[in-house]
Amino acid sequence: MSLSPSACFLIYISLLLSLPHWVSAALPIIPVSTCQNTCGTIPVKFPFGSGFGCGHPAFARYIKCNSGSLQFSTGTGIYTISSIDYPSSTIIVTDPFMSNCSSMQNSGSFSLDKASPFILTTDNIFVLLGCSTTSPVFDSNEDFCDTGSGSRVCRGLYSCKGVTGIGLQQNAPTSTCCVYDSPAGLGSGYSLDLPKLQCSSYTSIYEFGDEGNPMKWKFGISLQYNDSYYSDSCKDCEASGGSCGFSSLDESFACNCKNGINSTNNCLGRGYAWSGTVGLQIQTKMTFGGFLLYSWMFLLTKSR
Ligand SMILES: *[C@@H]1O[C@H](CO)[C@@H](O)[C@H](O)[C@H]1NC(C)=O
Ligand SMILES: *[C@@H]1O[C@H](CO)[C@@H](O)[C@H](O)[C@H]1NC(C)=O
Ligand SMILES: *[C@@H]1O[C@H](CO)[C@@H](O)[C@H](O)[C@H]1NC(C)=O
Repeated sequence: MSLSPSACFLIYISLLLSLPHWVSAALPIIPVSTCQNTCGTIPVKFPFGSGFGCGHPAFARYIKCNSGSLQFSTGTGIYTISSIDYPSSTIIVTDPFMSNCSSMQNSGSFSLDKASPFILTTDNIFVLLGCSTTSPVFDSNEDFCDTGSGSRVCRGLYSCKGVTGIGLQQNAPTSTCCVYDSPAGLGSGYSLDLPKLQCSSYTSIYEFGDEGNPMKWKFGISLQYNDSYYSDSCKDCEASGGSCGFSSLDESFACNCKNGINSTNNCLGRGYAWSGTVGLQIQTKMTFGGFLLYSWMFLLTKSR
């Protein structure tokens, strides 16, 4: 070493000045995995994600995990998802203002965005309750209400004790109840505009079970989601132990690996690459310390 003590000191100072910047610049990329595979008790799998950047981008604005509750957003509000059935690509959504046999109340409207990857399943039976007799649903020129099997459903609901919650007496005449056949059908987009329909409440039944006992009917909105987003790159990512997500910058595919690192394809070999980088930082700090010690010793030797 032919460096003079002053040159050493200069190097030391410049390192001292530049290193903290280097270390702090490296810090923001220390990974924190934000994608969870459950939300409360509900397993969260592709195409759903627990937050932004997780799952498929087409679902991200509709599904979010918020304080342990998986939520579905649509134009009329935010609803809780009570279950997901992955094999049949269906979710059950519950509206806190919707009526059921034990509790009937004034409801808000319900709509499903046309552009969303969700459609109503054919299992849903929407029932409008407590409608005004001048309601457009009773327009004899339109065929909004199912008056066949629908009247059994209406009788069943009006036999519930909960009907007093909307100001009706138990077993009231069913003339203000309508099993609603939406003009939009079951395609994409759906709208149940209660003020326009002049009804005070609605309910949706997705499973009857014991047809004669409305207390046992299953209330909720059953939606089917488009499952064709499951791509080969996502399968590759999952096979390597990752979960599929997307980059927040351009919504391009990202594979979220268990160590928190995101890759553009899969997680193979990613674990080591990262711990190597962490190791390098620690090593650099140690080298830095060693350099300090070395320069002191160097200065001491020189000054003798
Ligand atoms: C990885 O992706 C998740 C979800 O998009 C994001 O929150 C996180 O910041 C990303 N991590 C890195 C290191 O880019
Ligand atoms: C009925 O609705 C009330 C009010 O939203 C809710 O608290 C209750 O859990 C519902 N019961 C059933 C069986 O869905
Ligand atoms: C489902 O999603 C795929 C891929 O984005 C799209 O091409 C297809 O049209 C969608 N299908 C329906 C029924 O919306």
